[in-house]
Amino acid sequence: MAGEILCRIIESTKDFLKEMPKAIRKKKGQFFTSMETARYMAGMFDLSSLPEEINILDPGTGSGILSAALVERLNLEASVQRIHLTCYEIDTEIRPLLQENLARIQEMSTIPLEYELLEENYILSQQHDFKEDFLAVEKQKKYDLIIANPPYLRVMRNDAAAAAMPEVVHGAPNMYFLFAAMSLFNLKNNAEMVYIIPRSWTSGLYFHHFRKYLLTNGKLVQIHLFVSRDKVFKEEEVLQETMIIKVKKTVKEPEFVNLTSSQSSNDFKETTSFCVPYSSVVAGKDLYVFLPTSLEEMDVIHKIHRYTHTLPEEGLRMRTGIVVDFRQWDELRKEPGEHIVPLFYSQHIRDGRVHHHSSGKEYDWIVDAKPGLIQKNKNYVFCKRFTAKEERRRLQCGVYLSEDYPEYASIGTQNKINYVDLLDGSYMDAQTAYGVYALLNSTLFDQYYRVLNGSTQVNSTEINSIPVPPFAKIRQIGERVLASGDLTTPACDQIVMEVAYG
Ligand SMILES: C[S@@+](CC[C@H](N)C(=O)[O-])C[C@H]1O[C@@H](n2cnc3c(N)ncnc32)[C@H](O)[C@@H]1O
Repeated sequence: MAGEILCRIIESTKDFLKEMPKAIRKKKGQFFTSMETARYMAGMFDLSSLPEEINILDPGTGSGILSAALVERLNLEASVQRIHLTCYEIDTEIRPLLQENLARIQEMSTIPLEYELLEENYILSQQHDFKEDFLAVEKQKKYDLIIANPPYLRVMRNDAAAAAMPEVVHGAPNMYFLFAAMSLFNLKNNAEMVYIIPRSWTSGLYFHHFRKYLLTNGKLVQIHLFVSRDKVFKEEEVLQETMIIKVKKTVKEPEFVNLTSSQSSNDFKETTSFCVPYSSVVAGKDLYVFLPTSLEEMDVIHKIHRYTHTLPEEGLRMRTGIVVDFRQWDELRKEPGEHIVPLFYSQHIRDGRVHHHSSGKEYDWIVDAKPGLIQKNKNYVFCKRFTAKEERRRLQCGVYLSEDYPEYASIGTQNKINYVDLLDGSYMDAQTAYGVYALLNSTLFDQYYRVLNGSTQVNSTEINSIPVPPFAKIRQIGERVLASGDLTTPACDQIVMEVAYG
C-alpha cells in the first residue's frame, strides 16, 4: 500500500489538470512534477542519518506529488518513526485537492504522519525571520528534508517578495530562486534539500547574489541533468532547461559533486553518474557552476583555471555592439556617402576576419552625426552574440582591422555582435587582436563556454569573467597566428596550446 501513495496522488492530479486550463496555471507558475521525476527526486536524499522523528517541508506543494513521493520512499526504506509534513500553497483552486491528497497520504503512510497546510505566501510569511537570520534561530522551525518544484515566475524588482530577500536579489528576481534561498534558510544544519529548477542560475551576473547565498551557506552534493533538454515537463510544455540539485546546508566543501544525467524526465533507467571535484564545479570569483559531463570537459575547466586573471584584468574587455538598428532608423543608410560610415553586423564576420561585404541587410551604413552611436575606427575582435543551437561553435569571431577601411574615422557596430577592445580605449595592435581572436576561436574556449553557459547567447559579462593567459602571452599567440596566416580553429588550437597551455 505504501508503494502506491504516489500513483494515487498522480491520478487525482490528472483530473485537476483536465479542469484547469494551462494558461491559468502558467500565470501562477504552476507546473506539476511527473511521477518518474518525483520518485527520482525523493530517491536522491541520504536517509542514513535521519532522527526518529523528522520534519519535511514541501513549499509550493501543488497537489502534493513531491510530498507523496518522499513519504512513499520513507515508508519503504527509512527507519523513521514519525513524520511531520509542512506544506505551503497559496493557490485557492488547488487547495481542496491538496487537502484531500494530504489526508490520503496520511492514511496510506505506515509511518505515523501529521501534516499542516499553510495557506500563506512561502516567501512573505517568513521575511522577518529571513532578515533577522540567525538571531532568532531558536524560534524558527527547521527541517530535516526539503523537496520542491518551485514556481517559475518573474517578479518585479519592487515586488514585496523581492524586497523580502534583498540579500539574494539583483534586478527583477524569479520566484524559483527566492524559494531555493528560503529553503536553505529553513533547513537544519547538515540537512539536505532537493530542488528541480531551471539551469539559468548557474552563470551570469543576474544570479550572482543568489549563487553567493546558496553556495556559501550550502554546498552542492548532486546535480542531475537531462540529456534531451526539452523533455522535462513534456506534457506541460515547459521549455526552460531544467536540472535537479541536492544541496546540503553546510559550509564545509565536499571533495566531490555527483553529476548525474538521464535521457529525459520520464526515463531514469539509463542514468549515468560521474564524480567531479567540487572545485571544478563551483569556481571563480563569481561562483559560476560548471557542468562538465565528461573527463574531456573536466580537463578543459582545469586548463582554463590554470590562469586567474580575466580579460579586463589583462587590460582588455568585451563589450556589446552599440547600434540597436530598429531604434535608429533615422540614422541608418542603404548606401555610403558623405558623413556615412560602415555599420557592422554578425554577417560580416567570416573565416576569422571582418569585411564589410554586402550582408544581405539593406541598411549597413550609418551617419556619423551622433557620437553615441559610432566608435573609433580601430582594431577590434568581433564576436557573434547569437548562434543557432545546431551550429558547431558557440564562439564565432573575426578580426577587424582599421587599415582595411582607412577612409573612415569611425564605424558602427550592431548590438547583435560583441567586440573586444583595450580597456582604456587606446589602439590595440594587430598582434593583440589576433591573439584574442585565436583564444576565442580555440576549441578550448568554445568548450569552456558551453560548459559554463547552456544558452546559445554569448554574453560579454561571462566572457569577461573567463580566466585568460597574461597579456604578453596573448600577444605572442597573435604574433604566431599572424606569421602562419592560418586562421582556422586547428591552427589556433595548436598555437594557443603551445604558447599558453602546454
Ligand atoms: C511549479 S508548481 C509545483 C507543484 C508541485 N510541487 C509539483 O511539483 O507538482 C509551484 C506551486 O507553488 C505555488 N506557489 C506559487 N507561489 C507561491 C508562494 N509564494 N507561496 C506558496 N506557494 C506558491 C503555486 O500555486 C504552485 O502550485
